[in-house]
Amino acid sequence: MFKKTEKVKRDLQEEIRAVTTLKDAEQLKIKYLGRKGIIQDFMKLIPTLPAEQRAAFGQQINALKAEVASFIEEVIEKLSREPVLKVNHEIFDITLPGKLPVTGKKHPLTQTIDDVKEVFARLGFDVVYGPEVELEYYNFEALNIPADHPSRTDFDTFYIKNDILLRSQTSTVQIRIMEKQKPPIRIIAPGKVYRPDTVDARHSFMFHQVEGLLVDEGVSFADLKEVLNQFIKTYFGKDVRMRFRPSFFPFTEPSAEVDISCSLCSGKGCSVCSYSGWVEILGAGMVDPHVFKAVHYDTEKYTGFAFGMGVERITMLKHGISDIRLFYENDIRFLSQF
Ligand code: DAH
Repeated sequence: MFKKTEKVKRDLQEEIRAVTTLKDAEQLKIKYLGRKGIIQDFMKLIPTLPAEQRAAFGQQINALKAEVASFIEEVIEKLSREPVLKVNHEIFDITLPGKLPVTGKKHPLTQTIDDVKEVFARLGFDVVYGPEVELEYYNFEALNIPADHPSRTDFDTFYIKNDILLRSQTSTVQIRIMEKQKPPIRIIAPGKVYRPDTVDARHSFMFHQVEGLLVDEGVSFADLKEVLNQFIKTYFGKDVRMRFRPSFFPFTEPSAEVDISCSLCSGKGCSVCSYSGWVEILGAGMVDPHVFKAVHYDTEKYTGFAFGMGVERITMLKHGISDIRLFYENDIRFLSQF
């Protein structure tokens, strides 16, 4: 019997030397210690032996089992400590920097819209959306721009059919919201607008605007100024100055165009600001009572302000981008800079 157990050990040690993977080691474990394994075959012999030999034989087998188990565990442990992938240092230089995976990013215009949303969310404005395919009524009439109004040409428009068009401004959303909700109202409405402009470095037939509207009792022009001041300082930076110029929009009275000190030359004068030191960024004003009448608001009780800005425009000014077409060309060299 002693010879037999010694042989088992020798065979096992030989087999262990050939083991290179954890899988090999597991198979060896099954071969020796499994339910149909070599040790079990010895166990099966016990009942066939004369009664007086059984105890001694059993002890021997148990001792063998423990030894076999410890040999196999040892090799398993050793293999699990080794790295799975052995590096061939002649082929790989492990000191070279790794390749970074290419990660996607938000489009710069989406980033701007997100930034604008964040500033206004802090000031208590909700984000709302309106349709791009609109009725003439929302794009013009309700905004105090009747059919023969000379300013209609300023909002030159793609007509689809009869009174259906592609909206040329996000001011449409002002009406859609006020029709549904009573004051107080505090919203911004980002989205696409369309105008049949010839495409060049400053024009595109589709671009983005963010509209803002606040209506309540006792809202004044000073509130408009402070809200825009907060936005400009956060988006463009603390040192940027702002100025209001009188202007005209049919849906606001009084109306203003808002300029900021040119962020590229800090107001010293450059080609972007036509050497004036100022660049226009948005239109704004106090909501015209005619607009309130269209949505049946009490013009004695409520006042409000509105503003509208071009998303491409503010993005270009902030980052010094000189051609609007870059936003739509999907050139990764441009997009990956943001
Ligand atoms: N809708 C105007 C445009 O597209 C921008 C604008 C000006 C919006 C004044 C306003 C506003 O809400 O009060 O040019």
